[in-house]
Amino acid sequence: MKKLAIHGGKPVRTKPYPAWPQVDEDDVQAVSEVVRSGKWWMYAYEKDPAGGVGGNGRSKVSILEREFARIHNVKHAIAVSNGTVALDIACKAAGLKPGDEVITTPYTFIASSSCALNALSIPVYVDIKPENLTRNPDLIEGAITERTKAIIPVHFGGVFCDMDKIKSIARKHNLLVIEDSAHMPGASLKVRRFAGSLGDIGIFSFQNSKILTCGEGGMITTNSDEMADKCWSLRHMGRARYGGWYETVMVGTNNRLTELQASLLLSQLKKFFKQNEIRRHNAKILFSELSSIEVITPPAYHPDTENDIYYLVCLLYNREKWDGAPRENVIKAVQREGIPVSAGYEYPLYKNPVFKNIDFNSPQSPYNIGRTKPVKPYDEYENECPVAEHVCKEGTIWLTNELLLGNEEDTRDIVRAFEKVYENRKEIMNL
Ligand SMILES: Cc1ncc(COP(=O)(O)O)c(C=O)c1O
Repeated sequence: MKKLAIHGGKPVRTKPYPAWPQVDEDDVQAVSEVVRSGKWWMYAYEKDPAGGVGGNGRSKVSILEREFARIHNVKHAIAVSNGTVALDIACKAAGLKPGDEVITTPYTFIASSSCALNALSIPVYVDIKPENLTRNPDLIEGAITERTKAIIPVHFGGVFCDMDKIKSIARKHNLLVIEDSAHMPGASLKVRRFAGSLGDIGIFSFQNSKILTCGEGGMITTNSDEMADKCWSLRHMGRARYGGWYETVMVGTNNRLTELQASLLLSQLKKFFKQNEIRRHNAKILFSELSSIEVITPPAYHPDTENDIYYLVCLLYNREKWDGAPRENVIKAVQREGIPVSAGYEYPLYKNPVFKNIDFNSPQSPYNIGRTKPVKPYDEYENECPVAEHVCKEGTIWLTNELLLGNEEDTRDIVRAFEKVYENRKEIMNL
């Protein structure tokens, strides 16, 4: 048995994985051209009917929007400054009102809850599925009340939610579906049903870790002309899309993407499909070789997946199979073997202090408008979401996208490291 690196042995690898984001001269060239042009915002061009009043068809932002909509087989794409505000705008466009309820997932980034809170609405949590950490659609109907207005499915890491079930529940109860596809550009279900086009409105993030990035950025997608016009207005100071430059019709704010960011995204987009191919190839190797060692399991991807993407691979950790080795110790040992794995979220969203800091139920509370029942204390979700609790505590080990951007041997090193730590599991019980 080879000695673990954490105990002074030779690590499986010392070479780093590819850097993320990946930068090349084309990116430098693309951004430099915009800098030199002096056209740094999307309204630097003359008026063009293609973008409506004050918009234009020639700005990098407009080109990006058209290209993104085409790729995702969706009618409208509206670029914004990040994925968090994309969700905020989507909630406003969906007409969320104070005191409304939004059913969301406890296992994700805070943005799909903060968007409800920013609209003075109430995030309501239902548990996730142990096999792939997406929200369990069978629990949604039990959480619907007369105040429920929307469902926010979050496709996670590369795993699609069960959109067919979620949409049929939404139809039955007349709810809007706001599809958080922050992790999922380019991902589709058969046939050409792309993330971001499946609900009433969808969002993406181009934040630094995402598989399509310009550091910070976001996109809203929808097939509804009405939603698109509202989102256009909301990201643009509430301006009238087809009105005068100073004509304000909605309470909006400035959430526009810059030309520099859009040019970087357009340049990154040229490499995006190739990068996805590399990750796909390596994911196949990873999953097949992990399944033969049987000690750590890939998540269950949606059976209808057509274009698979890998933003995160949330491997499922089963402590019993490891004779009780704590997940944290496995992570430490695998990291020392040269694989930068991580544990993910420390606790489900409802445990965030923000929920203690908001007064939901006093008569003056803006969250209480028109409510007939008090908001349930958020610590009660602990009993209702045992899977999310377990996953945060010890149920998953995350691999980030760049770990699948190397070659086949780089990928096999991930398997070798887990294998080696597993063989030595008795040595890591107390680190
Ligand atoms: C699932 C999900 N939704 C929304 C967001 C928010 O995106 P941004 O960081 O661009 O604001 C993130 C960010 O990481 C995310 O992971």
